[in-house]
Amino acid sequence: MLYITRRDTFAASHRLHNPALSDEENARLYGKCNWTNGHGHNYVLEVTVAGEVSPRTGMVCNLATLKQVMRERVVDKVDHRHLNFDVEFLCGINPTSENVAVAIWRELELHIPQGRLFRVRLFETENNVVDYYGPAGCGIPGGPGQSQDL
Ligand code: NI
Repeated sequence: MLYITRRDTFAASHRLHNPALSDEENARLYGKCNWTNGHGHNYVLEVTVAGEVSPRTGMVCNLATLKQVMRERVVDKVDHRHLNFDVEFLCGINPTSENVAVAIWRELELHIPQGRLFRVRLFETENNVVDYYGPAGCGIPGGPGQSQDL
């Protein structure tokens, strides 16, 4: 099994706010990310595909095609947008990096050109990063939910 990763970037605004909490709790919990009018991050998205090398192409996954899929299904929809208001696939979601990573997984999972989606990694800042391996960790080799033939 090999793992191949395509990286892309986008800039977006968000506001983290849980209406079930008081304004004071939200401010304490989310800090700058709770500012009333939102604020921005320069996100880095890494998408990792797992698979075997095709004898015909010598590739696990054509990165040019993966780039195009990531652009069309995710990056073009979120770049220079407000994640709370402008993005259909994030509708109704409190856009923490955790929730955004899960939503990106769902956008990409069925559109990977070859191999299978293994990991969505989202940097919200240089120092804060979240990894999502799919429902019940099924992207992790030997993890729950992984079919026997992979
Ligand atoms: Ni923020």
